[in-house]
Amino acid sequence: MNENEFKDALASLAAGVSVVTYAQDDSFGGLTVTSFTSVSMDPPMILFCMRKGIASDGPIQNSRAFAVNMLSSEQEEVSNGFAGKQDRTALVKETGYKTGETGSPLLDGCIAGLDCRLRDVFDGGDHWIITGEVVSAFSDSKKQPLLYFRRGYRQL
Ligand SMILES: Cc1cc2nc3c(=O)[nH]c(=O)nc-3n(C[C@H](O)[C@H](O)[C@H](O)COP(=O)(O)O)c2cc1C
Repeated sequence: MNENEFKDALASLAAGVSVVTYAQDDSFGGLTVTSFTSVSMDPPMILFCMRKGIASDGPIQNSRAFAVNMLSSEQEEVSNGFAGKQDRTALVKETGYKTGETGSPLLDGCIAGLDCRLRDVFDGGDHWIITGEVVSAFSDSKKQPLLYFRRGYRQL
């Protein structure tokens, strides 16, 4: 199969943008993802896929917990920040956050958030498939989501 055809097909799926955040000692880590999805209602479980070898590969497995921050339409800059080279601890502090039960930072200004305990890490080719068990959830019905479609941000 042609790789560009595969990528173009995947880019045709409109996806919500989330930032996965976690605590490590006195600092924070995080990455922007579109691979987040729900898995199970009982127990409440979700997953996301993380590229092997990125800065979070290792620290997130060690932290044993993470938060999924579903971005709102005003948070394009937050998405770009957590997809780039910026210091994650500074980014979390600039964005504003509350500490969840697991110790993970839940970012301010999001449309919804999930505080999760890491459950399993499965091999997924050049990515890890990371599942989490959700310990708390919130959502803000007044906000609109940030979407990603055909390599650009979109709004509803
Ligand atoms: C819209 C968007 C979606 C992304 N989705 C994913 C994803 O699902 N999984 C992933 O590993 N990286 C994804 N990335 C890339 C990561 O955000 C990027 O590699 C980030 O710098 C990793 O952070 P780290 O190196 O601090 O761990 C995405 C980037 C953008 C802009």
